[in-house]
Amino acid sequence: MKKITSFLFVIGAASLFAGLVLTGCTKSGPAGKDANATCTQCHTFADTIVAKIFQYDASKHASGSTAFEGTNKSCAPCHASQGFDEVVVTGADTTKTGIADAAPINCRTCHKIHNSYTSSDWDLKTTAAFSPRYDHTASIDLAFNGGSSNLCARCHQARAASPGLTNPTSNVDSIKITSGRWGPHHGPQGLIMAGKGAFEVGAAAFGNSPHRDQAACMTCHGGYAQGNFVGGHTLTMTTTSDNLGDNYTVCKPCHASASATTGFNIGGVQDEIEGMMQDLKVKLAAANVLDTTTMFIKVPKYYKQKQLAVYWNFQLIEADRSMGVHNYQYTYDILQSGIDYMNSLGL
Ligand code: HEC
Ligand code: HEC
Ligand code: HEC
Ligand code: HEC
Ligand code: HEC
Ligand code: HEC
Repeated sequence: MKKITSFLFVIGAASLFAGLVLTGCTKSGPAGKDANATCTQCHTFADTIVAKIFQYDASKHASGSTAFEGTNKSCAPCHASQGFDEVVVTGADTTKTGIADAAPINCRTCHKIHNSYTSSDWDLKTTAAFSPRYDHTASIDLAFNGGSSNLCARCHQARAASPGLTNPTSNVDSIKITSGRWGPHHGPQGLIMAGKGAFEVGAAAFGNSPHRDQAACMTCHGGYAQGNFVGGHTLTMTTTSDNLGDNYTVCKPCHASASATTGFNIGGVQDEIEGMMQDLKVKLAAANVLDTTTMFIKVPKYYKQKQLAVYWNFQLIEADRSMGVHNYQYTYDILQSGIDYMNSLGL
């Protein structure tokens, strides 16, 4: 509420200011356009912007507690608005320095707000394909819906393995791991959607389900908004909280069977993936790889590269958190290849 009120106040002040400038000085706004006319392409009496702010304020992008990570140049690219702006241009994995006065992810992080001061500023800052951190020779292009998911995936991606795997299918080469945090970090959803980022250690190449080419992140996360609980710019997906909205409805146009009972567990797929996760988790613990209390890898220790690949893949699915919805086939193939490997060790 506080934010909205102060926002309206500033807008009020701004119109007054614009009014004064316009009557007192020339009739031209930015870039030779009539400022009054272009500002009002967005700042009108309508509730359009207010509704989006209302939803956005309830999102984790606004309410999350990690904007303070902006002062660290390794974290700023995804945790501070200015950091994101910088790396979209430089293509680097870190900002040049930490960001003081870090702004959280906000309208300007994703849209070109106040660039041309016209309604075309709703355009996204970037929709282009990009080279992911896990391998800068690869390319991610979630082209559906004009590439809007590429914007999300630039942040919602894994970090590079460090130390990296030179021969991930090798059951001979060993690498010493010293940090328990070795793994893909949070939020690899963009990679999972694209069907990339896992180590391919299966008998056959990993497959993909059609969401990658037929849906964008916003198709599901930005669907029909119910108050500031789900959908729209809250980006929240939930089917569990009765009076907090229930957005399995975004699945309905393509999955006629989706209902309040199935939730997102369409065709029992989430149950299946959860079962496979549990299976692999138990095996990784039995092999003395995974510490199930911290959910970190046990260190310091030498591991066969293939064992590390299977561990990485497990953490990728754990961090994705959609339990197969983002890309069922890819998720299934990743887990099955891991289970097969652990079975081959007699676990
Ligand atoms: C593309 C639509 C759009 C246009 C065109 C636009 N604005 Fe905005 N403006 C916004 C949005 C969205 C915000 C809210 C930003 C936020 O809360 O992060 C905003 C916020 C503001 C604010 C509050 C302070 C701030 O920067 O957040 C002022 C003042 C303002 N606009 C003035 C103007 C003026 C003057 C013009 C014309 C010269 C203009 N705007 C044109 C979308 C627009
Ligand atoms: C600038 C980087 C960045 C961009 C761009 C970005 N995100 Fe995020 N996203 C984050 C970070 C960081 C968090 C975690 C925030 C926190 O918890 O403090 C997050 C959190 C989320 C969450 C909430 C996760 C939870 O724990 O409930 C969802 C959902 C989400 N993002 C979806 C999206 C979608 C969809 C897009 C594109 C429209 C997008 N994000 C674009 C960085 C980004
Ligand atoms: C490539 C982008 C990226 C970088 C770089 C990055 N993060 Fe994140 N981080 C994310 C995203 C995206 C999320 C939200 C993931 C989700 O909710 O699934 C997140 C979430 C988090 C969270 C919340 C986790 C949770 O479980 O709620 C913390 C804490 C965090 N990051 C810390 C850091 C730190 C510290 C650094 C720097 C060392 C860092 N991040 C670097 C993208 C990034
Ligand atoms: C994490 C990124 C992200 C943030 C933050 C964000 N948006 Fe968006 N917004 C999007 C995406 C993606 C779309 C869908 C664009 C598409 O489908 O091409 C969108 C769509 C919109 C639209 C519809 C645009 C049109 O062309 O009709 C409006 C209006 C809008 N956002 C306003 C806002 C406002 C106001 C804020 C801040 C309160 C905000 N957005 C914050 C990513 C974001
Ligand atoms: C086909 C619909 C769909 C698409 C497309 C989709 N998601 Fe999701 N996503 C979901 C569902 C459903 C969940 C939650 C599963 C659950 O809680 O059972 C989820 C979970 C998440 C989460 C974990 C936090 C949460 O809300 O539970 C994040 C973060 C996320 N998605 C980001 C993204 C990003 C980024 C993209 C695009 C690269 C994307 N998603 C594309 C449906 C989708
Ligand atoms: C734009 C259309 C579209 C939307 C929206 C969509 N899906 Fe899908 N989804 C598909 C298609 C096409 C397939 C592959 C054919 C099939 O299995 O039905 C698929 C497959 C799946 C699968 C794998 C099932 C299998 O057997 O291959 C799951 C799980 C799934 N979707 C869940 C969801 C959920 C949950 C949502 C809503 C949050 C959703 N989908 C939204 C089009 C969509």
